[in-house]
Amino acid sequence: MRMMKFYLLSCLLLVFPLALCDDRHVYIVYLGEHSGDKTHQEIEDTHHSYLFSVKSTKEESRASLLYSYKNSINGFAALLTADEAAVLSKMDDVVSAFRSHPHQYSVDTTRSWNFLGLHEGLGDGRKLGMGRRSGILHKAKYGKDVIVGLLDLGIWPESHSFHDEGLGPVPEKWKGICEVGDSFDSSHCNRKIIGARYYLKGYEASFGALNRSNDFRSPRDHDGHGSHTSSTVGGRSVKNVAAPGGFAHGTASGGAPLVRLAMYKVCWPVGNGTLAEGNTCDQSDMLAAIDDAIGDGVDVISISIGPRETIPFRDDGIAIGALHATKRNIVVSCSAGNQGPTPSTVRNSSPWIITVGASGTDREFSAPVELGNNITIKGQTLTTHKLKNHLYSLVYAGDVVEPHVPKNSTAGQCLPGSLSPKKMKGKIVLCFRGEGTRIGKGKEVKRAGGAGMVLGNSALLNNLVLDAHVLPATAVTADDATRIFNYIKSSKKPTAKLSPAGTAISSNPAPVMAEFSSRGPNSNYPNILKPDITAPGVNILAAWSEASTESNFGTKPLKYNFESGTSMACPHVAAIAALIKAVHPTWSSAAVRSAIITTATKKTNLGTPITTESGEVANAFSYGAGHLRPVHAYDPGLVYDASYTDYLRLLCDNGDGQVDPNFKCPKVPISSSDLNYPSLSISNITSSVTVTRTVTNVGGSGKTLYYSIVENPEGFVVKIHPRILYFSQVGEKKRFTITVKNEGKSKTGEYSFGSYSWLDGIHVARSPIVVSPA
Ligand SMILES: *[C@@H]1O[C@H](CO)[C@@H](O)[C@H](O)[C@H]1NC(C)=O
Ligand SMILES: *[C@@H]1O[C@H](CO)[C@@H](O)[C@H](O)[C@H]1NC(C)=O
Ligand SMILES: *[C@@H]1O[C@H](CO)[C@@H](O)[C@H](O)[C@H]1NC(C)=O
Ligand SMILES: *[C@@H]1O[C@H](CO)[C@@H](O)[C@H](O)[C@H]1NC(C)=O
Ligand SMILES: *[C@@H]1O[C@H](CO)[C@@H](O)[C@H](O)[C@H]1NC(C)=O
Repeated sequence: MRMMKFYLLSCLLLVFPLALCDDRHVYIVYLGEHSGDKTHQEIEDTHHSYLFSVKSTKEESRASLLYSYKNSINGFAALLTADEAAVLSKMDDVVSAFRSHPHQYSVDTTRSWNFLGLHEGLGDGRKLGMGRRSGILHKAKYGKDVIVGLLDLGIWPESHSFHDEGLGPVPEKWKGICEVGDSFDSSHCNRKIIGARYYLKGYEASFGALNRSNDFRSPRDHDGHGSHTSSTVGGRSVKNVAAPGGFAHGTASGGAPLVRLAMYKVCWPVGNGTLAEGNTCDQSDMLAAIDDAIGDGVDVISISIGPRETIPFRDDGIAIGALHATKRNIVVSCSAGNQGPTPSTVRNSSPWIITVGASGTDREFSAPVELGNNITIKGQTLTTHKLKNHLYSLVYAGDVVEPHVPKNSTAGQCLPGSLSPKKMKGKIVLCFRGEGTRIGKGKEVKRAGGAGMVLGNSALLNNLVLDAHVLPATAVTADDATRIFNYIKSSKKPTAKLSPAGTAISSNPAPVMAEFSSRGPNSNYPNILKPDITAPGVNILAAWSEASTESNFGTKPLKYNFESGTSMACPHVAAIAALIKAVHPTWSSAAVRSAIITTATKKTNLGTPITTESGEVANAFSYGAGHLRPVHAYDPGLVYDASYTDYLRLLCDNGDGQVDPNFKCPKVPISSSDLNYPSLSISNITSSVTVTRTVTNVGGSGKTLYYSIVENPEGFVVKIHPRILYFSQVGEKKRFTITVKNEGKSKTGEYSFGSYSWLDGIHVARSPIVVSPA
């Protein structure tokens, strides 16, 4: 009884967090699209009347409302019990009433995983070369006056990447604001960062008041992620940028350096605010941000945030917000997630979103090991520490452990406290990956007085993960680690030299799909291929928050930092979408997505097929249509357009029902394979399936002839009818059918990959095909 009393008392005293005191949680009541011309006051009154119908008093109803979404999304966020939400969900015009679970969404960087060594990415990265893109950049005036909004962890306005010298006045259509708060006042917005807002009502309802020692209660970035993505989209061109140690030295520039940026800070740290504990982005906060971004007048929205699990449309704030943005021709680019290479892990997979996977690029951070037998072995590193240019004694970690360490394979993994300073002082140590963190292994070698470290991959892992180790060190593949191990075992006095690292362009084919990039098939819309595209997302150097004290380079504040994740790939595509918008301001978001998809490539820079990290040929479930090709994307020749109404029809087919009061689901819904999507995905084909598509001629010259070519998926025959399309003017639309016939040779549940393309001698519009037999 006494316990009970104390509990109740503490709840009365605590204003926050409300949700911890009772069984109320943050729910979003989604009412679809606004109808008619209601004033903001009328909209809020309507939302209150819904709430009042389940709450006992007007006061309680008022106190429980967190957000009333008024601009384009119709709905509200409130503290509700499960019963109250259930009652609301059954009311007229309520599409869904879903809970915004704490920890459900977070930003899609692999940093914490990389940093902690829990999950391992690969390391070779160079951003898309400026030179190769200069044509589109020039035509698109570097994205001049296109406005890109980002939902993220905030922005560091002092970064050189966000200076506004030479930029004209803020575009007239802009209606956003510069919201002030901790260490952020109106002077922190400029003609580059034209808007900044922050949202944490949902976060605080679940986690309690923000701990201001861990983050700024303002749009200012405490983490680095938001500054990184923002500068990747639209950072100014800044000369002489490099990571600590001079890595990746060069000119840093966003993909569209003259776009205007608007930061909507929606993610906040959890727990003690360290990387280990991560961050979370509340759905009610994200919906408020997207609703504002639409009202503010953004052209493109970049969201490097994803749910940890796939979530159906009705429960997914990003999908709902993006649908409303699409209605206003705003392009929404989202990260595909870092849950790969497991199948069916792709997130943000709605057809009105551009879903972006991550791949490496052609940059290496080369740091070879020279052995005493004059054999040189390739290695890579980001460490800033250098060894003297002479041979050092080389030992295998397993041979220099303390007596208490069991002599098995973990002995060679340089785990904390395992190495004997007496046996290895001043030597270079060969350690293997496996248990423990990579950075931690370097720390252990340093603790025991080692001069340097060679970090070998464990068996079969042949791609390198790069770190800024605390001592001179380099990473080598499993095969090379075995060669070094055999040299140590066969030599009387093994020695080695570590060369300092330098940034180099790899001679290996690039890109390679990142292991962590989430894969299809799409579990929410099985007949919509996702991801759509892949873009650079491995070891990307971009702006950072100087308040952040945790990075692969230690605890020093950094102006620029490397990051990996589909989080880094998403803003690359947002930047290209902004450039396309600058050239073609009237294009729908579907047309922009189509241009990006149909111009992608399945080949590397050496003309070989793009592979996965384990060396297998990658397929559409990892890269969608392939790798982003900015030069081609602004001039695709043909586009597959789709409208908001087409998406509403698709939602009817998917069982999501009516989400717009002005739209009734048709009696015969369209199948999702029939959405005019630039890729084709059909599962469970018994004998044959025919779908229709419509292409719009957007090529420069009017009279054109396009002919089709097909690359048949194994076990299927694809026929396009008609095989030739004649266009006499720009803007003309032509319909055709695609018939996919199952030849009965493939096994049920096995996917086959192919493509069809339209060619006119200048343009190639290629569409990936993914099919499976019944
Ligand atoms: C806020 O965070 C700081 C640093 O992580 C910690 O020392 C402090 O105890 C936290 N305060 C509260 C009220 O949790
Ligand atoms: C924060 O939490 C993580 C994991 O829960 C823990 O490992 C770390 O020591 C904590 N850091 C501080 C400063 O409390
Ligand atoms: C390695 O090369 C050096 C200089 O070229 C030479 O003096 C030495 O004998 C060589 N060592 C071996 C093991 O081949
Ligand atoms: C090595 O031995 C230790 C202690 O017995 C054990 O915990 C560990 O799992 C072993 N590792 C392997 C790879 O067998
Ligand atoms: C295909 O068939 C399998 C097995 O019957 C089923 O689980 C799956 O949902 C079907 N897929 C589609 C897209 O209909």
